[in-house]
Amino acid sequence: LLEKLKVITIDGPAGSGKSTVAKIVATKLGWIYVTTGAIYRSLALLFHEANLKEKDLGNIERFTSFINERYRQESSSGKVFLGEREVSHEIKAPHVSELASLLAQEDSVRKRLLPIQRKVVLNNNGAVVDGRDMGTVVFPDAPLKIFLTASPEERAERRLKELHLNGMKTNINELMKEINERDLRDTNRRIAPLKPAHDAILLDSTKSTQEEIAKIILKYALQKEMII
Ligand code: DC
Repeated sequence: LLEKLKVITIDGPAGSGKSTVAKIVATKLGWIYVTTGAIYRSLALLFHEANLKEKDLGNIERFTSFINERYRQESSSGKVFLGEREVSHEIKAPHVSELASLLAQEDSVRKRLLPIQRKVVLNNNGAVVDGRDMGTVVFPDAPLKIFLTASPEERAERRLKELHLNGMKTNINELMKEINERDLRDTNRRIAPLKPAHDAILLDSTKSTQEEIAKIILKYALQKEMII
C-alpha cells in the first residue's frame, strides 16, 4: 500500500495569514512547517547585500547553492537561518519583499529554488508548507491543498502589525499599495503564478481567526484520512 504524502499545502496572497495558520496546523499534528516565501526572501536579502538587482542573474547558481547548503528554518520558532546567521527579521523588510517578488518572476530562480523547497519538506515526516505555488507546482500530489485569501484591507492590517512587531515603521496606505503591486506581479507572472490548484479548497480568513481556519484545515485532514 502506498503511503499518502504527508504534506498539506497552503497557498495565497501576501498577508492572508498562511504562515500563522500553517504553524498552528503543523504544531497540532507534530509536523514541521515551512514558509517557502522565506527562501525567496533569503535569496533577495543576499542579492540586496551584494548590490544586485533582479536582472543580475549571472551568478545565480552561487547564491542558490549557498542557500541550498545554509538555509534552515526552525520549526518550533519559525526563525530563519543562513548558516549561523539569523535573518528572520531582515527578510521581512519591505525592500526585501519587493525584491523577492521580482526575483520570483525569473525562471532560473524558480528552477533552482524548487529542489531546495522539496528537500526541506521531504526530509521530514509530515509538513505544512505555505507559498504561492505549493499546490500547483512544488507538491502537485499533496492530498490536501488550501488556497487562503482575505480582503486587501485585512491583509494590509495584518502585515502592518507584523512589521510593527519587528520594529519597522510604515503606514497603512503605503503598505496597501505595496501589497497590491506584489499580488498583481505574483498573480500575473508567466511561471508558477499565484492561483488555486484545481483541487484546492478555498478558504477566506477575513472574518475568521487563524485558529478557526486551522481547525477547518484539520477537519479536512481527518476527512482525507491523512491523520487518524
Ligand atoms: O509569502 P511571502 O510574502 O513571504 O513571499 C515573498 C515573495 O516570494 C512573494 O511576493 C512571491 C515569492 N514567492 C513565490 O513566488 N513562490 C512561493 N512559493 C513563495 C514566495
